[in-house]
Amino acid sequence: NYLRHVESMSQLPSGAGKISQLNAVVLGESLASEENDLIFPSKEFSGQALVSSPQQYMEMHKRSVEDPAGFWSDIASEFYWKQKWGDQVFSENLDVRKGPIRIEWFKGGITNICYNCLDKNVEAGLGDKIAMYWEGNEIGVDASLTYSELLQRVCQLSNYLKDIGVKKGDAVVIYLPMLMELPIAMLACARIGAVHSVVFAGFSADSLAQRIVDCKPKVILTCNAVKRGPKTINLKAIVDAALDQSSKDGVSVDVCLTYENSSATTRENTKWQNGRDVWWQDVIPKYPTSCEVEWVDAEDPLFLLYTSGSTGKPKGVLHTTGGYMIYTATTFKYAFDYKPTDVYWCTADCGWITGHSYVTYGPMLNGATVVVFEGAPNYPDSGRCWDIVDKHKISIFYTAPTLVRSLMRDDDKFVTRYSRKSLRVLGSVGEPINPSAWRWFFNVVGDSRCPISDTWWQTETGGFMITPLPGAWPQKPGSATFPFFGVQPVIVDEKGNEIEGECGGYLCVKGSWPGAFRTLFGDHERYETTYFKPFAGYYFSGDGCSRDKDGYYWLTGRVDDVINVSGHRIGTAEVESALVLHPQCAEAAVVGIDHEVKGQGIYAFVTLLEGVPYSEELRKSLVLMVRNQIGAFAAPDRIHWAPGLPKTRSGKIMRRILRKIASRQLEELGDISTLADPSVVDQLIALADV
Ligand code: PRX
Repeated sequence: NYLRHVESMSQLPSGAGKISQLNAVVLGESLASEENDLIFPSKEFSGQALVSSPQQYMEMHKRSVEDPAGFWSDIASEFYWKQKWGDQVFSENLDVRKGPIRIEWFKGGITNICYNCLDKNVEAGLGDKIAMYWEGNEIGVDASLTYSELLQRVCQLSNYLKDIGVKKGDAVVIYLPMLMELPIAMLACARIGAVHSVVFAGFSADSLAQRIVDCKPKVILTCNAVKRGPKTINLKAIVDAALDQSSKDGVSVDVCLTYENSSATTRENTKWQNGRDVWWQDVIPKYPTSCEVEWVDAEDPLFLLYTSGSTGKPKGVLHTTGGYMIYTATTFKYAFDYKPTDVYWCTADCGWITGHSYVTYGPMLNGATVVVFEGAPNYPDSGRCWDIVDKHKISIFYTAPTLVRSLMRDDDKFVTRYSRKSLRVLGSVGEPINPSAWRWFFNVVGDSRCPISDTWWQTETGGFMITPLPGAWPQKPGSATFPFFGVQPVIVDEKGNEIEGECGGYLCVKGSWPGAFRTLFGDHERYETTYFKPFAGYYFSGDGCSRDKDGYYWLTGRVDDVINVSGHRIGTAEVESALVLHPQCAEAAVVGIDHEVKGQGIYAFVTLLEGVPYSEELRKSLVLMVRNQIGAFAAPDRIHWAPGLPKTRSGKIMRRILRKIASRQLEELGDISTLADPSVVDQLIALADV
């Protein structure tokens, strides 16, 4: 029915070649809810799109789930394999009741993702095409590399890494800001079969040390400092502290290769440890510009990326080579309707999964021109993004709702004073995009012309899972629409029963897809327990979701103890562990609260040691503790003094009650009679504004 409805609607004239004057009226129904708000791609857009109609999408999706082996091997054949995979395209066990969880794609296939990103494109005649435009923090500071030049830079670094003894399977930690050297470093590791682990350069020394201790790299790649907006951040000092810490914990790193970022600081101002520290520019240019590829099995590890869970220390999500390669390339191509003439900018940092899959690998596997931006999107003012869009004639712009919300608070003239006429497709990722931000993005940034791909996915999934294909379906602001090829989302109830049709519940996935992570580094048991045991037979995402009457998916946020702050995933347990390290803190409980710009903010209830008085100074030092332990992005927005915490008789903290107090929904506290001491609730309420 819905398909017929869409067909009839798309026959309506659309506004002057633009994506229709939209807000189509669903026959006989009101427009009151977002669900009924349909935004059609223009005929012009659909006409040129890779997938141009709902029918085409449905046929492709049907084949992808009925014959995954055929669907994905056809696509994989377009890439370079030194040796084709074995008889089985994939094999899997996703049911804990049937033995260990196991996912394999293209096993026995021998390839190299760096080769497919660079050499293959150069050989196909794209050597002179720009691979990367780099935009520095300051206006006017920029650079670029063609595919041939990028290949040469990557080879030089690969040769150096080999020279210092890095071998296939060795871990390399990368702690770099958004310089061109960051994607170069990732590709150089991939070329020699080393496993990169990029740590976002906003993490503190302690967090970096924790990751170093877990994956034991021989070498760390960093730079001396970076400027973000008006601030200079001395990254090398953070690395020094992390390396001191990790060697105390028994893991010493032999080499610290340091890029001299002269726009941020000088060599003289950089502390140096002879024998360990090496200036990048002193050694790398001396190495040959070609380097043999290390051919690897499709199931050999490509990278580790640590992410937060609801309990304990961060988890090392492990992705392998072949499936991830095919999946990121394909999702990039279809979700952004990629054309070889596009110039693409993803504002994410390579320290997160988005920067792995959609700054580096996905786009480069397609031979795309990618923009890499060092700075802050509101520096020197809120027009910076659109200045960059016009400068490079960017056609695909992919960002996070938090950035959209922060920019929409400023005057629209910061947007409208730039032309933006090169834009064709917009994208959103990291958290649910609220409909008002969606509309502003669509109407103001995209001049009501560019479809928005609201891509739902996770570090674990490797690539997009639920996303619009911009030329296929009409969009609904705030919905990630439909599953990507090969993806079978299911919504289950508390007991793990699949619910059909219009419903809400826990979002799981049935069956594997090529980009799925294969394990948690060094802890396969935790992998199974966290993702495959909650609802046996399915991968559990940790997200809540509803499906409307037309089959559109609406993500509603995490259902576990993970908070999503500005699209950054933070475990409440991690923040709590940081707070209790404070010598005057006895106990802490952290919950998420709604935040106008960040999506969610961090709200911490803190119980102090007996007799310690509350003070502003103490509050600041608690926040500082979290900044030092995790990083500035995890700093609590609010500290709420708590003489006691609401606990059950068995000692379990009732977060439900804390969430209500944090959001001041005091009438909705619910039943508090099961608390060991119900009077703590009144005490907390009394201290709400202290
Ligand atoms: O809650 C979902 C949210 O971000 C989580 C994954 O975080 P991370 O692994 O850090 O990866 C972020 C970039 C892919 C998810 O569990 N999330 C991500 N994208 C969306 C989203 N929620 C709603 N809509 C999205 N488009």
